[in-house]
Amino acid sequence: MFSIEHLRAGLNTEFLGRAVLYLSKTPSTNDYAWECFQNQKPEGTLIIAEHQGRGRGRRQSSWSSTPGKSLTFSFLLLPDMANEKLGILPLLAGVSIVKGIHSMTNILSGLKWPNDIMVSQKKMGGILIESRTGEKGIGVIVGIGLNINESEDDIPNRLQSQATSLYIDSGEEFSRELILSAILNEFENLYLHKWHDIIPLWQEYCIHENDEVTFHTNDKFLRGTFQGITDSGHAQIQINGKTKTFPAGMITL
Ligand code: BTN
Repeated sequence: MFSIEHLRAGLNTEFLGRAVLYLSKTPSTNDYAWECFQNQKPEGTLIIAEHQGRGRGRRQSSWSSTPGKSLTFSFLLLPDMANEKLGILPLLAGVSIVKGIHSMTNILSGLKWPNDIMVSQKKMGGILIESRTGEKGIGVIVGIGLNINESEDDIPNRLQSQATSLYIDSGEEFSRELILSAILNEFENLYLHKWHDIIPLWQEYCIHENDEVTFHTNDKFLRGTFQGITDSGHAQIQINGKTKTFPAGMITL
């Protein structure tokens, strides 16, 4: 079972995760977090679910998790910042996950643009960030799903070749509470104090810098060299000798 006390013991944040709700089941923690936004819950409110009935991934995909083994959570931000800066939030989340996992497990995960968490070239986590404008300004929900203690049998067959967990990779089981508190500590520190570190850190953790990648955008597949990201977090890909910038899309390695 997940222990909120254990989570709190590891937290050293000012606002993130200070209000926390643990649910055994909900359709989607992102949807629950939107209700919190509507009900004017404080910034940093954290929702953790053991089981999601309709977990959502990026690009209209679904997200599956394993009760008791995965980390499935969302938190509410009420940012007071320019829209360009908001575009960096997925990268901030990715960096905080890599740093948090490393500090608690010594496993060095990596990032695949724009925000997949990778271990040994397989996906172990994903981030779904949504924003809306409400009566009192903008609300952002950061939703994160991480595979922590799943064994191979827990991963759906269709995903086995592409997905992994920290346990599958290392043979060790880890405390979900301590990993989550480490991620939230890293996130809040970057969000409040270290905005300028995000792009360089993201590039440091990127697993495909200068590699040939297939880029999928607007129903087109393009082959090129991933050269890095701009200050806005957009991908820069060299295609036929010319560098092009893409704000959105998907990469296959
Ligand atoms: C992706 O497609 O890679 C993003 C997956 C994000 C899944 C998380 S799990 C917690 C939160 N609630 C959801 O419904 N989705 C996100």
